[in-house]
Amino acid sequence: MQIESSQSEVTANSRQPLSPTIEAVNLTKVFGKRVCVDHLNFKVHAGELYALLGDNGAGKTTTLNMLTTLLAPTEGEFFICGHHGWNQQELAKSAFGVVSQDVSIYQELTAWENLAFIAELYGMSKQKATARIKELLDEAGLSERANDQAGEYSTGMQRKLSIACAILPEPQVLFMDEPTVGLDPASRRQIWTSLRELRANGVTVLLTTHYLEEAELLADRIGIIRKGRLVLEGTIDELRDKIQSIRSISVRIAKGVSIDGLKEKFEVLAAEQNTRVKYDQLRNTVSLAQPKHLSLGQFAALVVRWFESQKIEFSKFVTSEPNLEEVFLEVTSGNAEIELDVDDLNGQAE
Ligand SMILES: Nc1ncnc2c1ncn2[C@@H]1O[C@H](COP(=O)(O)OP(=O)(O)OP(=O)(O)O)[C@@H](O)[C@H]1O
Ligand SMILES: [Mg+2]
Repeated sequence: MQIESSQSEVTANSRQPLSPTIEAVNLTKVFGKRVCVDHLNFKVHAGELYALLGDNGAGKTTTLNMLTTLLAPTEGEFFICGHHGWNQQELAKSAFGVVSQDVSIYQELTAWENLAFIAELYGMSKQKATARIKELLDEAGLSERANDQAGEYSTGMQRKLSIACAILPEPQVLFMDEPTVGLDPASRRQIWTSLRELRANGVTVLLTTHYLEEAELLADRIGIIRKGRLVLEGTIDELRDKIQSIRSISVRIAKGVSIDGLKEKFEVLAAEQNTRVKYDQLRNTVSLAQPKHLSLGQFAALVVRWFESQKIEFSKFVTSEPNLEEVFLEVTSGNAEIELDVDDLNGQAE
């Protein structure tokens, strides 16, 4: 009887096999009077890496907590591998692994014991578990420290162990909340490599981040979340086009030459190229926004040639990335090219 009822529930609540791997439909969370996640609609397809990008307090962790069944939505619903995330929690849960923002490993157990505990929970045979644990510790660069208590690990090592724990049962879907926060550049790179490998193996990954660079580097698609609302969504190429127009080139003028005396020249260059110029007196630096009609490479070459032709020496030449605030302003600036997504996204419930 029990089996029958669970099967009919699957039929009643599940989406068709071709449905996306993760789907949020009007997902909303209200704490008291504050709407922290506001009617989110998005889909992540099989094998995709989707980055939910947003500033502190944007609602990323709250969204993830709902998708991983830790928190009940106030409104809306979600599906994981076709299973209704709330009404079919057990089925949904069996499909995903989670790496939460706070490290969630047992501090008093060794790395090996942490992994062995999970293998046992999932009913893995001893032989398979041993091989898998060895492989994961190796990949995480933790083999030598396998028998040390996890509590003695550095933050980065603990994060790597958390990831190993989450992927040990080979889930179809992996949720990761800010996987590289607080890590040194080498550890970040290692985690990026593991993420790419997971994706290559067909795992669907939803990660949150507040690093534009991280999202741009890893994700197939990005959703920008702000004050609980999805303000922009697109493939990395679509977003790159939009961000491209707000990248800039900063040039530090050589010591002994003041930018004040050169402003007139820079204004002429900016007008010719239909772009904006900014000055940083403290650093004796001039920044030129990348014009929309040029690629970054073309613009960099043009600026170098211009400096040479004007015989202005410089000591530093860098491209600078827009921060999330600038991306958001660009997205909502009414720029015809970009304006499209904002209302569409928030209103849609396909
Ligand atoms: N349990 C709670 N009770 C009340 N408000 C909460 C609770 N959890 C989260 N919030 C609020 O929800 C909003 C979104 O928080 P959330 O933790 O989801 O943001 P985030 O995007 O993950 O930020 P961060 O980058 O800092 O991790 C914040 O205003 C936060 O104060
Ligand atoms: Mg968070």
